[in-house]
Parts: sequence; C-alpha cells; structure tokens
Amino acid sequence: MDSLTPDLTPVTWLIRISEVFADLSGDIVKGLGGEIAKKLGSEYYLIQIRDPAAIRESDASCYLRWNLPVEHAWPCNPENMEGFVEKAAQAMFRKFADRDPQALFIGQLDPSAPNRYYKTLASNLRGRTLQLFSPEIAAFKDVEAQDSRRATLFCLVGKEGLFCGMQSPRNSNGYYPGGTKFISQNAPDTISRAGAKIAEALHYLRMYRPKLKKGARWLELGASPGGMTAELLDRGYKVTAIDRAPLDKRLDGKPDLAFAMMDVSAFKPNASMTYDAILCDMNGDARESISQVVRLSKNLEQGGLVIFTLKTPRVTAFLEMNELYQFAMDAAAAAGLGRIASTHLTYNRHEFTLFFESPPPV
Ligand SMILES: C[S@@+](CC[C@H](N)C(=O)[O-])C[C@H]1O[C@@H](n2cnc3c(N)ncnc32)[C@H](O)[C@@H]1O
Repeated sequence: MDSLTPDLTPVTWLIRISEVFADLSGDIVKGLGGEIAKKLGSEYYLIQIRDPAAIRESDASCYLRWNLPVEHAWPCNPENMEGFVEKAAQAMFRKFADRDPQALFIGQLDPSAPNRYYKTLASNLRGRTLQLFSPEIAAFKDVEAQDSRRATLFCLVGKEGLFCGMQSPRNSNGYYPGGTKFISQNAPDTISRAGAKIAEALHYLRMYRPKLKKGARWLELGASPGGMTAELLDRGYKVTAIDRAPLDKRLDGKPDLAFAMMDVSAFKPNASMTYDAILCDMNGDARESISQVVRLSKNLEQGGLVIFTLKTPRVTAFLEMNELYQFAMDAAAAAGLGRIASTHLTYNRHEFTLFFESPPPV
C-alpha cells in the first residue's frame, strides 16, 4: 500500500468486466487498488478493495460494465440447495428491509447461459422476496423508472451462489442487475449492428439526463452505413450525417436526414448551424476523431450532448489504452465539454463510450 491509499479495511465488491478485456482484468483490478478474490462466470469478479471510490474515479473505471458492494453473499450451488428460494428471500428481507430500497431487481450471473435455470430462479426469487417487502417495492416494475441516485437492492444468482447489495443505478453503472438493458443486434431490417449501440447508449444516458425531445438536431460523424442514423431518425430526431462512404439505400429520401458524403475534416458549418447533440462513431485515429468533435462542438447548443466512441482497436496494453482515454478526456475538457460518464457497453468491443455536455445556459 502506498502512503496515499487510505488505510481502510478491505470490502468485497462485485465487478463486471467484459470478456474482451479479460486479459486485462489483473491490471484493471490493480488500477482500482484492489485484488481479485474469485472469478464468477465469464465476466464477474469478486474483488477486495480498500477505497471503493476508486470504482468510479480511477483510470480503470471505464472498463467496468457494472459493480455492486457485496453486503450479503450466500456462496452455494442453488441447484443442490433444498429450499433455496425461501431461505434466500427470508435472508434478503432480514438484511435489507429496514434500509428502504426503492426497488428490487434480480439477475443471473451468467446471462449467456444456454439453459434458463438461473433466469427462472432469479424471477422466482424476486417474486417470493417481493411478497415479504413493502407493497411499494413490489409494485415497482419499470426498471428505467428508478431514481438513478436512490439505492436499489440488486441481486445476482448463478451456480456460484447469491450476491447482493444496495447501491444506486448510477453508482452501479446501470439500471439492471449486471448492467444495461439487453438490446438485440439482430433486429429484422437492421442496417448495421452499430444501431444497437446507440440504442443502449441512449438508454444508459437516462441515468444522467432527460431524453432529448423529438425534433432535436444531431450531427453524426462517421455515419455509414447508417445503423445509428436509423435509430436516431426512428426517435423523431433530425440528423445531419457525414461520412466518406455512402449510407444504406434504405435511408434514401428520409425527410429528417441530410447527408454529406465527405471527409469530416472538410465539414465546416457556419456559426448559424447549431446542433443539440453530436454523435461520433468514426473509426481511424481516435486522437483525430476527438479533435474533430472538439472543433465541431463550437456548433453545439448550450447544454448540448456529445456521444463519442473511443475506438482502440490496435491498442492492447493497459497503459497505452489509458493514455488514449486520458487524451480524449483532456481534449474534451480543454474545449469546455464536461464529462457526464464513460463506460463500456454490451456491444463495445475494444472501445469505450464517452458522454460529455457543453456548459448549460447560465
Ligand atoms: C464504425 S463505422 C460507423 C458505423 C455507423 N455508426 C453505423 O451505425 O452504421 C466508421 C465510419 O467512420 C467513417 N470515417 C472514419 N473517418 C472518417 C473521416 N475522417 N471522415 C468521414 N468519415 C470517416 C468510415 O468511413 C466509416 O464508415
């Protein structure tokens, strides 16, 4: 321990790191100042950590899909445990009822499991536990209706047992136990798989900001073939899309879409062309991409939103990845863009999704 690390008793935390970063999990947990105690399923890790603030504030935070303080654990194989649901429900009630969680949500530790055993178990356990809790909690069904700053009782179950704790969705980094809403990338007629990424990003953002109103104007950089464009148009937004490559034919003639086939660096909107949001999913050099966003952020309305995919495809080392991340954060800050959040979403491969906003009106 260095002299700056607070001398606190370690606590147990459950963190989720996507499989794409499994090789970096040791570096990531070290970056949080913690130690891995056990890996659970393919993406979860039980860690011991002295300073939980690091979960949200360290260089390694952006690698975490989700996290939870483990305030109650029952390591066991539920399949072999007689009366698991009843015992687990009673224990959760005893432990958490007095702490007044706003809601209770239970998920499975391995969402990709081929059989539905733990999905059904999670649902049965939630049903039984809610019979014990207050009617208000039992009535809470819409996951996105949670107050993102109020503590929810989250619980995960799997073949390694049951792990639960109370934390706000914002601090856990997602409304759902384990992260964000599952959005299929294979919807019929989808133009590109990237569409699901912006759908998930907009769902995630609800923890921080109200939805942009219909008619909001988006500037989209690196739009081809147009999966994200289609999602924005579906939500009633107006989109100015820029790409060197063409958009999918299915977007031809969309009344709320203006497309310019050109290099983003050559796009020079005059001062009267303003936008409520900028979305950038350009591939290529991430430093160049963020500098284009910074340049075009002068055309953002006050309080305007930026969603930026920080792509790191050829960067594999932890420190190099952090340097790139820091470069993007510094460039945005120098342009007066405030950080809302940075995360790794379901469909992010070697990339992060960064959210910023321009200063609000005074
Ligand atoms: C990952 S794809 C975007 C996928 C898109 N968001 C979708 O939903 O289908 C990246 C795009 O960035 C574009 N791009 C990269 N650098 C660019 C630049 N300097 N100017 C214009 N387009 C650029 C590429 O042509 C490519 O189409």
